[in-house]
Amino acid sequence: MRRQLLLAGNWKMNKTVAQTLDFISTLEARLGEGDPPVLLFPPFTALYSARQRIRSIHLGAQNMYHEPGGAYTGEISPAMLREICEYVLVGHSERRHVFGEGNNDINRKILRALEYDLIPVLCVGETKAQRDGEQTFDVLHNQLETALEGVEKPQVLRLTLAYEPVWAIGTGDTATPKQAQQAHRFIRRFLTQRGIDAGKIRILYGGSVKPANCVDLLSRPDIDGALIGGASLQVDSFFDIIQKSKTVKKSGG
Ligand code: PGA
Repeated sequence: MRRQLLLAGNWKMNKTVAQTLDFISTLEARLGEGDPPVLLFPPFTALYSARQRIRSIHLGAQNMYHEPGGAYTGEISPAMLREICEYVLVGHSERRHVFGEGNNDINRKILRALEYDLIPVLCVGETKAQRDGEQTFDVLHNQLETALEGVEKPQVLRLTLAYEPVWAIGTGDTATPKQAQQAHRFIRRFLTQRGIDAGKIRILYGGSVKPANCVDLLSRPDIDGALIGGASLQVDSFFDIIQKSKTVKKSGG
């Protein structure tokens, strides 16, 4: 089955409210009929203003805490997010590696996000040492298995997945389309083997996606979109990726 491409921009700890609004106005003025769905993950501080300004772009948060509320100074709950956005990133490699989140934390977040009707974008991916040690598929297997523990099969269909090899994030060192396709295919098979209709699930690729490499990546049969960091910070490069994605023809599935 054909999955519609999704192009997502993860801004990380970048952009003030004013910069966010400016970006959204400029991008939406350029987007038109026939453009693929676009999703932005601005910082928390700009989410509400973004919601007010946005017309066609989808909106997500970069993180959340797994508790619905309470004495958790500095954290943001799913109940707070569901008023403002549809998506939430869960398990981004910077959350895992800079902030020490483990697969069990990620599982709690997934369960809670689904309970609050948010769409989790679950990120998985191996480090350079793990790839060099030929552990990529074991790592992906473990990350997926723990993250999805206790998630009912129909609920899994509500997720979006993202394969983001850690060594490719922010490094300019992109996975080759072949490497990315192999990992995406592995993820889809993992889901299929668990009785999930994985053909319906979008799997995004993330890690140094740029206008120059996006078409090769997005052309692969199991790559259903991109999660873009650096190149989503300027309207020109992000819009360029969106336009180039329209030339992508999928061959088979
Ligand atoms: P990058 O980031 O495009 O700057 O490599 C991707 C991501 O972290 O989602």
